[in-house]
Amino acid sequence: MVNRKRNILITGGAGFIGSNFVHYWSRKYPEDKIIVLDKLTYAGCLDNLAVLLQSGKVEFIEADINNFEIVKFIFQKFQIDTVVHFAAESHVDRSITGPEEFVKTNVLGTFTLLQAAKNNWSRNSSIDSNQYRFHHVSTDEVYGMLQDNDPAFTEQTPYAPSSPYSASKAGSDHLVNSFFHTYGLPVTMSNCSNNYGPFHFPEKLIPLSLTNLLRGKEIGIYGSGKNIRDWLFVEDHCLGIDLIIQKGKIGENYNIGGNNEWRNVDVIELMCDTVDRLFIENPVWKEKYPDALASQGIKSRQAIRFIADRAGHDWRYAINAGKISKELGYSPQETFKTGLRKTIQWFLQNDNWWKRKILY
Ligand SMILES: NC(=O)c1ccc[n+]([C@@H]2O[C@H](COP(=O)([O-])OP(=O)(O)OC[C@H]3O[C@@H](n4cnc5c(N)ncnc54)[C@H](O)[C@@H]3O)[C@@H](O)[C@H]2O)c1
Repeated sequence: MVNRKRNILITGGAGFIGSNFVHYWSRKYPEDKIIVLDKLTYAGCLDNLAVLLQSGKVEFIEADINNFEIVKFIFQKFQIDTVVHFAAESHVDRSITGPEEFVKTNVLGTFTLLQAAKNNWSRNSSIDSNQYRFHHVSTDEVYGMLQDNDPAFTEQTPYAPSSPYSASKAGSDHLVNSFFHTYGLPVTMSNCSNNYGPFHFPEKLIPLSLTNLLRGKEIGIYGSGKNIRDWLFVEDHCLGIDLIIQKGKIGENYNIGGNNEWRNVDVIELMCDTVDRLFIENPVWKEKYPDALASQGIKSRQAIRFIADRAGHDWRYAINAGKISKELGYSPQETFKTGLRKTIQWFLQNDNWWKRKILY
């Protein structure tokens, strides 16, 4: 697909990764028309896009992706030629206590978007793949879990989702592939490892632990803390999606990851040590966060507690990102240390953002 001006619909663009992607895209492709469609669930926040909305660089529509009439209207009014689909229920813990929303949004919502794209892009029963693209954002969790010595997930790894979240994402992935095979819809898909970075909702491991630490609270780690995740800075996820949209092959899926496996406990210890260092480097944080252990000369690691494990907690995920590196020249820009430092600095500076989202 050639690089050209687009009318791009970004679903879930007020959420964590979606809003980072909206910022990324508007910086990189300022000529494009960007439309964000988001239901603003608890996870969506217009503040994430405030600067772009004020400057008129982005058009925002608050609606459910399941609302076919509104989705159809958006395709027609804005002549949408590119969809990047982030909207989802995304928190595994919530999928255990309330799986229904996950099926509605992740499976049925994706189906609604696919239908709208197919109906609007079909001309004489075919779709011009040079003109249109539907990019679906998925997760490595659809592959199930690995044991310590298993090789990392490749694009050929069979799907074996184990939570209602990953099962609903797997369902949406299959639908996306079926619209390519059956109707020739020009789709691409990415399966990414765990993201972290600015605008991360404080219910997930890194932002929850960090905001607890800054408020002088304990940090709970599930089980033994030895479960392994593969971490990627959110901007590096955006970069991978960009490459796939520009150069990826229609009908293909690409794993995105940073070859960066960490045990949960090690992630939290690195985070604690980085917080301690940042508080020493800049004493202003001690004034701003007096309840944090680092303000009292106590090592932040002292806040760590091990708590009862999550039901069905997957042991390990690891992404083999060889295909996107070889075929599209992908290479993440941040190491875990630099990305985590940037993330912590962002949270230290943006307490107005996260204090309004604290749930626990
Ligand atoms: N967070 C990760 O580490 C990670 C890793 C790999 C893939 N992903 C995938 O990336 C995507 C974005 O994840 P995230 O962490 O930014 O999620 P998030 O929960 O932060 O954001 C989801 C957004 O979707 C919106 N939304 C939810 N239901 C909707 C509906 N029915 N209609 C319209 N909008 C709706 C929410 O309001 C929110 O703004 C998801 O598809 C997720 O599966 C996430």
